[in-house]
Amino acid sequence: MKDVYILSIETSCDETSIAIVKNGTQVIALTVLTQMDTHANFGGVVPEIASRMHAENITMVLEETLNKAKMSVNDCDAIAVTYAPGLLGSLLVGIEFAKVLSYVYNKPLIKVNHLIGHIYANKLDNQMQFPCLALIISGGHTELVKMVDDYQFEKLGETEDDAIGESFDKVARVLGLKYPGGPNIEKLAQNGENTYPLPKPVNDNTYNFSYSGLKSSVINLVHNEIQRGNKINKADLACSFQTVAVDELKRKLELALKNTNIKNVIIAGGVSANKYLRQELKDLCKKYNANLNLPEFKYCTDNAAMIGAAAYPLFLKGEFADLDLNAKPTSSIF
Ligand code: KG4
Ligand code: ZN
Repeated sequence: MKDVYILSIETSCDETSIAIVKNGTQVIALTVLTQMDTHANFGGVVPEIASRMHAENITMVLEETLNKAKMSVNDCDAIAVTYAPGLLGSLLVGIEFAKVLSYVYNKPLIKVNHLIGHIYANKLDNQMQFPCLALIISGGHTELVKMVDDYQFEKLGETEDDAIGESFDKVARVLGLKYPGGPNIEKLAQNGENTYPLPKPVNDNTYNFSYSGLKSSVINLVHNEIQRGNKINKADLACSFQTVAVDELKRKLELALKNTNIKNVIIAGGVSANKYLRQELKDLCKKYNANLNLPEFKYCTDNAAMIGAAAYPLFLKGEFADLDLNAKPTSSIF
């Protein structure tokens, strides 16, 4: 079969990213321009600034990607773009750009769900085996999904309140760490110990998660200690929080491993870059004789290569989008 090159675009949050991916697995070129430093000044992503920066930079990101690949848009077989979920203005910049390329170069347009993109990051330079359990852990989502084949999803559970990444970011903020909080909590926790007794979410034997109670208890603890004039050991508190947050994932994944007897696990989304989490989940999967697929660090957080990987099965099925494609800010995979 002829090789398939997909030009893919991701602008759902604060990364402007374009990639060229061959046959859904091989990254020919990837450019990720992050706006992180700009948003860090405000303690989180400012949607209006994010969409303006995407609009300013997207042409340059395309040029850089084509130069790295030594290819032109004409050499590609399709244009893929993230259409959901994400920030409305940010998604629209990517979608309009993709539509123009699709129209001008007469290439089919493929719409990709961002969460499915995170799942398919596991296919880049790697293999995904079915059936598998997929744990999606990002800034906006925490979901446990069963996959029996490409694009065959069955939701087992999701967060009832905050997403795990969101709780890392909010705890980081109360500890005075910069946005995005996850990597900074991880760094601080390396010098700390699990000494603060934080409440664990209730064990309800469902596959649903909860992070709001844990987040609030850290915030309340910090405020109470400040009011009493006590010093907080930030490294110990970061370590204690990270331990309980990861324990919650382990508990639910273990339940699914026991109940389904599935032997393949994949982790997806920005929080999967956390090294402590990666080790803990590796140990858990080993106990159940299950294969754990972890995306490479560079494909854990938002990037367009994962969108190219997720677009490939849709290209093979001929599932193309029309030029009236619109953004869906709150859509899930289902
Ligand atoms: O997948 P992602 O890049 O964007 C969304 O789709 O949300 O995930 C971003 C989230 C942020 O909440 C960030 O703090 C978290 O992933 N994150 C981490 C780490 N790296 C990124 N959380 C914990 N440890 C990390 N090393
Ligand atoms: Zn993401």
